[in-house]
This record gives sequence, structure tokens and C-alpha cells, in this order.
Amino acid sequence: MIFLETRNLTKKFGGLVAVNNVDFTIEQGKINAIIGPNGAGKSTFFNLISGFHQPSSGQVLFKGQDITKLPSNKIAELGVARTFQTTNLFEQSTVLDNIIVGHRLRTNSNLIDAIFRTKRLKLEEAMCRDKAMEVIEFVDLQKVAYKLVGSLTQEEKKRTAFALALATNPEIVFLDEPAAGVNPDETEGLAELMQKMARKGITVCLIEHKMQMIMKLADKIMVLNYGEKIAEGKPEEIQNNETVIKAYLGGSAIA
Ligand SMILES: Nc1ncnc2c1ncn2[C@@H]1O[C@H](COP(=O)(O)OP(=O)(O)OP(=O)(O)O)[C@@H](O)[C@H]1O
Ligand SMILES: [Mg+2]
Repeated sequence: MIFLETRNLTKKFGGLVAVNNVDFTIEQGKINAIIGPNGAGKSTFFNLISGFHQPSSGQVLFKGQDITKLPSNKIAELGVARTFQTTNLFEQSTVLDNIIVGHRLRTNSNLIDAIFRTKRLKLEEAMCRDKAMEVIEFVDLQKVAYKLVGSLTQEEKKRTAFALALATNPEIVFLDEPAAGVNPDETEGLAELMQKMARKGITVCLIEHKMQMIMKLADKIMVLNYGEKIAEGKPEEIQNNETVIKAYLGGSAIA
């Protein structure tokens, strides 16, 4: 069975076709990448899969189940997590608190529990804390767990965003430009972290402009241009693809 699949996925914003008839398959446990020039539709493609936007037409299937019409929280509950291009963290809260909020998504306490502070809620709070500490360790942020997110480096913020996604126990994570705005050394560290996720069995799909990183990291790459899939394949196939080279200014971005 195909792990995650899009069929003829299309999104129109008025007259603009941001994602145009995209068929894409993702294999379990692999690192998949989506590249393409600015405005190519990469983030929109993620938004369609994770339920933040409704497609104009087409389907998204996760482990054979049609998730196209499900709301984003239901999709997250099924094990599909994502990060955002601009980090959506609470800068005035600690790393730990940011992650506990993320984990709440998966737990069952409702408002009544919250008001009466039932046993279940207390139990879940402890579980959240344990789970949060577990993912903080996984992304190697123990040293800054009690620091405010606003005081972190860009790379630490990216790791926090990873941890937030991981706290929901995902089977697949969609990472929108996880290494944007971090220096080359830190980029290497983030790449290693993505490999660690894949080794743990979490399927990774990332959008990235950093070609050197992508070519080393990805098992499979899809190239979008003006909303259309123009190529799909292994890094070496993509690097030598004429259409892909033309889509980038002078081809220099693929070097
Ligand atoms: N909510 C929206 N309403 C209208 N147009 C949108 C919306 N979101 C995206 N677009 C348009 O859809 C196109 C694709 O945008 P998208 O953000 O998916 O591109 P991208 O490939 O992620 O680009 P970048 O590399 O700059 O992040 C762009 O032309 C963009 O202006
Ligand atoms: Mg984008």
C-alpha cells in the first residue's frame, strides 16, 4: 500500500492555479523533498495535505484512507504532522510549554476537566510533560528547555518546531523550509536530525531551497514549477534534468 499519495491535487486562488494536478507518492520511512522556485506552490501543497486548505479538486490518501476533506486536527490525529515556513511558536513561553501545548492536541481532556481539574487531566498533564521532555531530548534541546523561545537562536527555534511536530507522535512530518535562515554548520545539524527521524521510522517530507543539503539528504525529490510537477526522481536524476535546470535561473541553484 502507498503510504501517502496525492492524486490530481489542485488548488486555485481565484484565477491563479497554485497547485496544478499534482500526483505524488511518498514511501514510508524515507526522506522526501519538494523543491522549486519561489511561488511554485510548495507551501500550498503542504497546506492541502495537512488540511489547512481545501483543494479545488483532487485527493489526498494516507495509508489508503481518503483524508482530503478532513479538518487539520483530525489529520494530525491520524499521524500527519507539519511545521510552518515561519515558525508559529509562542516567543514569550518556554520551549517546554510550547511543546506541551502541541501535545494537548493528541489528548482527551476537555474544558470540564480543565475547570474541575480531574484526575484524568492531572494524569494527562504528567504524560504531556514526559512526552515533551522526550521530544526535547530527541531534538537535543535539554539545555534550553526552560528558556523563553524568544531568546533562542534561529536553529534552536527550528529544533523546537521539530519537537512540536514530534510531540503529536506522527508517522510522517512535513517540514516547510526547516533550514531557512540558519548557517551551514547548523544546517548540517538539522540534516542529521532529519536522518535521525527517518531512522526512527518517521517518514520525512521537506521543502527546502538549500540544494546541497537536499541532494545529500533526500531519497526522492519532486520539483514544482508554477504549480506543476515538472520532475520527480532520485537526487542525481533531478540534478541532470534539463527541464529542472531551465526552471532555475541559469541552472545555478542546482549546482
Ligand atoms: N492564501 C492565498 N491566497 C491567494 N494566493 C495564495 C495564497 N497562498 C499562496 N498563494 C499564491 O500561490 C502561489 C504559490 O504560493 P506558495 O506559498 O505555495 O509558494 P512556495 O513554493 O511555497 O514559495 P516560497 O518558496 O516563496 O515559499 C503564489 O503565487 C502565492 O502568491
Ligand atoms: Mg513556501
